[in-house]
Amino acid sequence: MEILKIKGNHLLKGTIEIGGAKNSAVALVPAAILSDEVVIENVPNISDVRALEEIINYLGAEYYKEGTKITINAKKVKNKAITMEHSQKLRASYYFMGALLGKYKKAEMYFPGGCSIGSRPIDLHLQGFEKLGAKITNEGNKYIIKADKLVGTDIHLRFASVGATINILLAAVKAEGLTRIINAAKEPEVGNVIDFLISMGAKIKGKDSDTLVIEGVKKLTGGHVEVIPDRIEAGTYIIAGVMQGDHLKIDKVMPEHFASLTETLLKMGADIEIGDNYVIANKTPRLKPVDIVTETYPGFPTDLQQPITSLLTMASGESTITETIYENRFQNVPYLNAMGANIEIQEMMIRIKGPTKFNSKEVITTDLRAGAALILAALCTPGTTVIKEVKHVLRGYENIIKKLQKVGVKITQEDV
Ligand code: UD1
Repeated sequence: MEILKIKGNHLLKGTIEIGGAKNSAVALVPAAILSDEVVIENVPNISDVRALEEIINYLGAEYYKEGTKITINAKKVKNKAITMEHSQKLRASYYFMGALLGKYKKAEMYFPGGCSIGSRPIDLHLQGFEKLGAKITNEGNKYIIKADKLVGTDIHLRFASVGATINILLAAVKAEGLTRIINAAKEPEVGNVIDFLISMGAKIKGKDSDTLVIEGVKKLTGGHVEVIPDRIEAGTYIIAGVMQGDHLKIDKVMPEHFASLTETLLKMGADIEIGDNYVIANKTPRLKPVDIVTETYPGFPTDLQQPITSLLTMASGESTITETIYENRFQNVPYLNAMGANIEIQEMMIRIKGPTKFNSKEVITTDLRAGAALILAALCTPGTTVIKEVKHVLRGYENIIKKLQKVGVKITQEDV
């Protein structure tokens, strides 16, 4: 088992460069199937992308990597059933449903994996495929999705789901006629996928709005895209800077993508400077408590809810966080409490009473962002914190150990 050891209480100085967004990259790689040959730049080096690389190789595509640039040639793809093992390695495997359905009118795979932070159904994805004309057979957790032809239509999403919006887009770009996705997700990662599809020749209007209009085309060719900076990785390191930074520069970011975070930090009195493509964060001794509610974009992202919990333990007074997206996203709380925090869970809300002085402990990562929250707490802890099940963190934070070491964190990864 891989563990992390962090010796805390050192100030973080220097620059952290942010990589490409995980949630864009994991959609862009499956989307490549729709074209013949595409180039994707600024791809993050994370295990979720490597898992997709395995699936795309298994399907027969050629995949060349040169640093952070990948070229995918999908000319020799065979539309095989995606195995249970491949499907369950990550959540985003589900994008092969939309991409294969769009290209071959048939997709066969299992219910996807991913962090267990709630029930995470995919009914909206499936209803969207059905509205486009697909028939879905379900054998246990295996899905066979087939269509004689896909025909554009109006699809109203009950919830502005990132996954459902992208998956329906992937199928609709090659459907006959017009599809409208109403109450579509507006997250920047959706826009990144739209730009990629347009570069292949897709006709999509309404980027960044809640109604997307797609005019189906017969063929998609070429395609080029640069993955946008990861706003969640950026946000995590900005929070680290407010907890323990000494002029810590978080570079190569798009601050407009995480305005809800920086607004919250400024409300708390955090010492941050926001530049055009960077943020500088400093350890701030007296922070004010705040009340946060997670929302879809541009609201406060659920993916930063667990990381900011660690910071709120430092504020003087009571803060609250209401989680509105996932029903099981407080699994970091018992471990933060074991480290000395005072956090009470009340159904979908937590009350955080600060300020806290953390103690070093042995803790376990239950999911990706819970792991980030524990690392943040460990940065402020005298002594050595041991974090188990680090694989969850490596799924979504590119070169996190090297990036933290470079700014002075005493962090090592060990196989025990
Ligand atoms: C994506 C992100 C994840 C982020 C989340 C919310 C990826 C790979 N993952 O996840 O990091 O936390 O957006 O910003 O991009 N829902 C349904 N039925 C569906 C789909 C979703 O009820 O068919 C519900 C879910 O239970 C959840 C909410 O909608 O309550 C959000 O789901 P969704 O936006 O789809 O999240 P993911 O795409 O899974």
